[in-house]
Formats: sequence, C-alpha cells, structure tokens
Amino acid sequence: MARFGQDSLHPSITDPDMDSMRILSETALRFPDALSFSSGAPYDGNHDLANLSFYTDRYIKHLRDKGVPDARITRLMFQYGPVNGLIQDEVALMLRKDEGIDVPPEAVMITHGFQEAALIALRGLCASPDDVLLSVSPAYVGIRGAARMLDIPIRGVLEGPDGLDPEAVAEAARAVRAEGRRPAALYLVPDFNNPSGTVLPLAARRRLLEVAEAEDLYILEDNPYGLFARDGEAMPTLKSLDTAGRVLYLGSFAKSAFPGARLGYLVADQEVADGSGTVRTLAQTLSKAKAMYSVGSSTLSQAVIGGILVEHDHDLRSATRELAAVYLERLDAALDALAEHFPPGADHGVEWNTPRGGFFLALKVPFTADLAAMERSARDYGVSWAPMSMFHLEGGGRHEMRLGFSNLAPEAIREGIARLARFIEDTPRETSPGTQRPTSRETAPATPGAAA
Ligand SMILES: Cc1ncc(COP(=O)(O)O)c(C=O)c1O
Repeated sequence: MARFGQDSLHPSITDPDMDSMRILSETALRFPDALSFSSGAPYDGNHDLANLSFYTDRYIKHLRDKGVPDARITRLMFQYGPVNGLIQDEVALMLRKDEGIDVPPEAVMITHGFQEAALIALRGLCASPDDVLLSVSPAYVGIRGAARMLDIPIRGVLEGPDGLDPEAVAEAARAVRAEGRRPAALYLVPDFNNPSGTVLPLAARRRLLEVAEAEDLYILEDNPYGLFARDGEAMPTLKSLDTAGRVLYLGSFAKSAFPGARLGYLVADQEVADGSGTVRTLAQTLSKAKAMYSVGSSTLSQAVIGGILVEHDHDLRSATRELAAVYLERLDAALDALAEHFPPGADHGVEWNTPRGGFFLALKVPFTADLAAMERSARDYGVSWAPMSMFHLEGGGRHEMRLGFSNLAPEAIREGIARLARFIEDTPRETSPGTQRPTSRETAPATPGAAA
C-alpha cells in the first residue's frame, strides 16, 4: 500500500495533544475491569428507548397544535432543514426560563453539539492569523482542538480556586497586544469548569464583563454543567449579565438531555450590518459557516430535543432536578471517600478541591500523574483517572488528576477511591514529605494548575 507522508498532513491531525479525547475514551475499553474516573460521560441509567418516539411525536404534535400543516411538517422532518435549525423558538424559551437569557429566536443557531458551536464561533470571530484565543487553563480539550483545527493560536490563562481572575485576563490581553497580535476572544466555563470543577464568583463575573468591554474581547461562555448546581446556588450566567453584547453563549444538550443527540446551540444576538445595510444577528450572519460545516443539524435529533423542551414546558432546570441529585450524591460520595482515606493532618501528601457541583474534581498527589502512571493505576490497581496535565494549555498540572465521578454509582465511587488510595500509597513520592502543604479539604483546596 502506498505510504502517505505524515508531514504533509495538517498539523492538527498529527499533534499528540489532539489525541486526548481518544485516549480518555479508549482507556475504558483497554481496561474494562478498571473503575473509571477518567471520563465525563453523563449518567445513563434513566434512558428508555420508548422516549425517542415519544418525544419525536410530542414535537410533531406541537407543530400540528401550532397549525403547521402535515405536508410542511413532513418536509421539515425529511428534507434538508433550515441551516440555523428548527427549534430556535423552543431553545429561546428555555434560555429565558432556565438562565434568564432574553434573546429572540433569530439569535439562536442549533448546532452539532457544543463542538460545532465552538468551531463556528471561532471561525467567525478570529479573522486574521494574528488573532489569538485566550482560554481558561486548564480547559476542556474540545476548545483546544477546535482552535488547533482552525490554526487559531490559543493562550492559556491559569485559573485559581475560584476560576479565572479577571485581572489576569486583562493582563493576558495586554500581553498579546504588546506582541502585535489581537486577543479576539476569551473561552471559559464559569460553572463547574471541566476539568477542575471551579465556579466563578458573581463579582468576578461582573468584573470579567467590564474587562471584556475595556479590552475589546468577546467572551465564549460554555455552560454544559450549570443546571447541576445545588438548590439555591445557581449563579447567573455571564450572558444574562451582559448588557454590552460581549458574550456568545455556547450550549449543549449532551448533559441536560443526552449526548447521542449531538445537539447544542450558539447564542449570538449581536447585530451585524452587511454591505447593503441589512442588519441581522451574528447567529444569522454565521449561518454561512454552519452551512459549510454541516449544512444543518439533524432534524430528527431536533425533533427529539424539541419534544423534550415542549413536554417540560421549556424548563430543563426543573426537569433535571432528579438528575442533578444523582450527580450531587456522586460528588458527595467522592468527597467523603477521599476524606476517609486521606484524613486531615496525616502525612499522605494528597489534596483536593471541593466543587459544589458539576462532574469533576481536582486531586493533587505527591508524584507525577501522567499517562504512564494512569496506565499503571488502571492495569495494576483497577482504577483510571485523567492526568490534569492533558488539560493545561501552558504546561502545569503534572502532579494532579482529574476525577470524573458522573458515570459511577456511589458504591463504585467508594471502591474506586479505595483502589486509588492504594495506588497513591504504593507510588513513590517525588517530593520529601516535609515540603508537602497541609492536607485537609477544609484548609487547603488544591489550586488546579498550581502543582508541578
Ligand atoms: C466543558 C464542556 N463543554 C462542552 C461539552 C459538551 O460538548 P458537546 O455538546 O460537543 O458534546 C463538554 C462535554 O464533555 C464539556 O465538558
């Protein structure tokens, strides 16, 4: 067979960093007996095949109730659909109820998951080779990959225990500008960041919007986990606080409904005037990019998700209360098991943070937590996790693990943490015990990224 030179492929295809998603998902296949803290897959114990047809029918009934003739519904379902989607009305209603985001349906584009929304937003906002994407670091691997695919340079801004420091963002923007480049956008997950679980406090949200205005930055707000806060603790989204049109909101139904639908959305209500003076929303303007990435999103998937939204009166926050309780129970099980195996005051050199929700927490250990260590942990101790260094954009996280607890039942979490404790105890330390910082979850939350 003829050989194809790897060097002639686009660098994003050969970049080892682009392999993180595959490596994490293949870990489970390679070590089927290991309990897996390595993925962020949602809980899937409540799915029922009958729901697929129920919700599709519910959406079709909704269209009929609105007076749409059957011939048109048939065409909508079977033909190529409108590029920006079918269910923008439903998503706009949901955004108002769930997030206090008040935008017209024309400001919404239905996408093939968050991932396509990110590709489209980045393609639109980063206009020249000198445009740089600032991103929280550590960050979800999907944003790094999207930027890499588009040859958009990405600059990490290290977060602390409370997420991104707005002043650090301003500093990074100025540093990029001092290099003669333009900081075009900032990516972050203000609610339960993947991989660290951090939440941006309200004052920092307000300040970040001021910084975005002062530094002429657009913010890409990614919010797949915001629904899974404890009762009464949900924070206002940046988009709901944004009065200056600085935020593009990137949503996903992967966690609030199911990832197999591969559905998400981009909210971009900023106005754009074309050459003839016609003013449209940025979401409408970006529809050219949507057409070229995927022509349109699956009408079938949109019918199912549309049916879920209609059936639950566009209130996914209420509809996912039971699911939120499942995740919170798992988070508590993980935190309790860690406290049991690594008691405060003992000399184990282990620290972790205490997220209030989401799918992930950060665990700091006294040795290099890289892929080789993870393989040893999975093969010899029956427990896998994700090296935090995979999520860092500027290096760092060498001594940290991301623990994803969303897809393990509490009993399995307790067993998994017991196995992890044995692995950690058996692994030689790289630093002398005297140099370890205090180790209680009350006294010293791990600062994701501060290790190494
Ligand atoms: C931070 C973050 N954004 C978005 C997503 C969902 O992306 P998609 O809708 O493409 O499945 C995930 C899923 O893991 C995530 O962790």
